[in-house]
Amino acid sequence: MFTELRPKALTILKSDKPLEQKQQELCDYLQSTVPHYDWVGFYFKNGDKEELKLGPYAGEPTDHTIIPFGKGICGQVAVSNQNFVVPDVKAQDNYIACSITVKAEIVVPLFVNGENIGQIDIDSNTPDPFTEEDERFLEFINEEIAQLIEKD
Ligand code: SME
Repeated sequence: MFTELRPKALTILKSDKPLEQKQQELCDYLQSTVPHYDWVGFYFKNGDKEELKLGPYAGEPTDHTIIPFGKGICGQVAVSNQNFVVPDVKAQDNYIACSITVKAEIVVPLFVNGENIGQIDIDSNTPDPFTEEDERFLEFINEEIAQLIEKD
């Protein structure tokens, strides 16, 4: 599935539109195309603050527009710099629930010039849906976005 998604994702990201609009289109595309992607969004470091701020997303609106570093799955990835795959959100102590329908989550950090500046976050209503293929695909997406930011 992801092999087919890559060219379309690249078409979205390589258009002449502003970066935020491309990220929005990408979220909409992934959320509507990948069956186990129920919420797709980006969080970015909020200026000099030790917190994440919600960027473009697709899916149900969330109250968690600001997440302090260290809090929840997202906040942990902001400090660990590692992918975080959560097969069962109920098994996590440090987890911020956005919707009771969510069963699993994956967060992949976005590095620009080696610095962790944000992340892509996917929520799934399907239990344990994520594989290494998701990780490689989301790393690919983030690398492409990083290139666009580096060029800015
Ligand atoms: N579940 C996340 C919070 C963000 S929502 O999924 C959109 C977390 O624990 O960090």
